[in-house]
Amino acid sequence: MPARRSAQWYAGDVRNSYIHRAWMRRGLPADAFDGRPHIAIANTASDLTPCNSHLNEVARSVSDGIHAAGGIPLNLPVVSLGETLVRPTAMLWRNMAAMATEEMLRANPIDGVVLLGGCDKTIPALLMAAASVGLPAVVVPGGPMLTGTFRGAPLGCGTDVFKLSEEVRAGTLSTAEFQRSESSMIRSKGHCNTMGTASTMGLLAEVLGMTLPGLAGTPAPDSRLLEGAHATGRLIIEMVDAGRTPDAILTRGSFLNAIVALAAIGGSTNAVVHLLAIAGRLGVHLTQDDFDTVGAGVPLLVDLLPAGRFLMDDLYRAGGLHAVLAEVRDLLDPAALTVTGRPLVEYLDDAPVYDREVIRPRAEPLQPHAGIAVLRGNLAPDGAVIKPAAASPELLRHRGPAVVFDSIEDLHARLDDPDLDVTADSVLVLRGCGPKGYPGMPEVSNMPLPAKLLAAGVRDMVRICDGRMSGTAYGTVVLHVTPEAAAGGPLAKVRTGDMIILDVAARRLDVDIPAGELEAREPSPETVKAFAAPSRGWERLYVDTVGQANTGADLDFLLGASGDRVSRESH
Ligand code: FES
Repeated sequence: MPARRSAQWYAGDVRNSYIHRAWMRRGLPADAFDGRPHIAIANTASDLTPCNSHLNEVARSVSDGIHAAGGIPLNLPVVSLGETLVRPTAMLWRNMAAMATEEMLRANPIDGVVLLGGCDKTIPALLMAAASVGLPAVVVPGGPMLTGTFRGAPLGCGTDVFKLSEEVRAGTLSTAEFQRSESSMIRSKGHCNTMGTASTMGLLAEVLGMTLPGLAGTPAPDSRLLEGAHATGRLIIEMVDAGRTPDAILTRGSFLNAIVALAAIGGSTNAVVHLLAIAGRLGVHLTQDDFDTVGAGVPLLVDLLPAGRFLMDDLYRAGGLHAVLAEVRDLLDPAALTVTGRPLVEYLDDAPVYDREVIRPRAEPLQPHAGIAVLRGNLAPDGAVIKPAAASPELLRHRGPAVVFDSIEDLHARLDDPDLDVTADSVLVLRGCGPKGYPGMPEVSNMPLPAKLLAAGVRDMVRICDGRMSGTAYGTVVLHVTPEAAAGGPLAKVRTGDMIILDVAARRLDVDIPAGELEAREPSPETVKAFAAPSRGWERLYVDTVGQANTGADLDFLLGASGDRVSRESH
């Protein structure tokens, strides 16, 4: 057997190996350093990431599995991001979490890593880190929470917050009733139970081949999660011995499989930026257009909020991810491997569906075309995305006057002004929300509707933004407009009253003004004023180096990988 990477710290009789071993002994037997694999458990458990607060329990099961297979488990707390708390937006810190995790994996004496994530940005950040280090790596998704209920009806995290708050603004729900729902929303440990970003990325981690097959989507309180965590602990030892690294698993074929699955499950638009960023770490050729061309013909099969009715617990009960994938098996790359060394499709032979309301047959989909549509035009030369499955069909072809907001604060200040010149046909345009402009590309694209239109019964309008949208949100929202306003995109030049033309079938997003006028216009002074580059710290590094949404919004110097090279010694 070739020498372990960790042996470069522990092997030998010299002073430095003594130092490395002695400080690590702390009850470990002497043979802990004689060639047994040392496995980091990169753990995003944090009280400030409530969706991940149970991961220490999961880590113990992983640890038991590693022990049982002869390895040495090592808990490695890494940067954690609580989606609902972290300001100004968790996305600002995704790349920092990835970079810090990458560097700590590389800097320490480890031979492989088990990645524990859940809340939205945590699994993408862990996968980006693992891809750049290249050590054997496997994800344990923390799993969704159980379904909460309010007034006898299920509550979907995020989606129902948006719905209930709109009802309050429309005057059809009292504030007291709204607040009563608060303690019912989060029923158990685990991440959001809708098909939001956390659910999407947990499931896609498995489709990419990076989890124990069958584990993703297991609810957080379900004892089968701990059983799977134990099995993952055993598996990582086998992976280390086999030298099974992420580059053998995360191929273009596995990313295309993820795009098929993203459409079939009705997953979050955030998966576009996250998958592009992970692929960018591996040098895998993947473009925003792949999401349209590969996902276009894929039907929506999973009837989950926000596109449908049910929640993640129902999906698990109905047969889970494998049952969904079995329906679209012919669209999957049969060569794409999993962490076990076997192809993903081999796990789909025995994947029955137990509830056809939740997982539809291919012949009777919820929607026939569920992919992400990529739009281009004079408003988005480098692309913008829309999730037609979450949109109002009658608005997918629309022409209406722009009502422009220069920042989220501008939106909040003026949206409910009774004098705001806006109708149901207007197109709400929000800019200054891209990676550089906000900074951090927040989930604000699904901007609320003007109160006076809500009161009149309007429930959807065309909205356009250079930011992102929560995976739990819905509506006719064009997002990830690239280039963003702060990077000189034409979005910065649109004025209130300009006619906007959206044609999703033709994949177009344009502003209807005479040729040449758009180029000749200066960006809105308010947009320029709102974009004040930070002077120091992470925000400055981020704004100076972040890429646009159409390439994953990673930092330019983090693209690619540095491998698991062992650095020089300082003792
Ligand atoms: Fe953590 Fe939704 S807030 S997954």
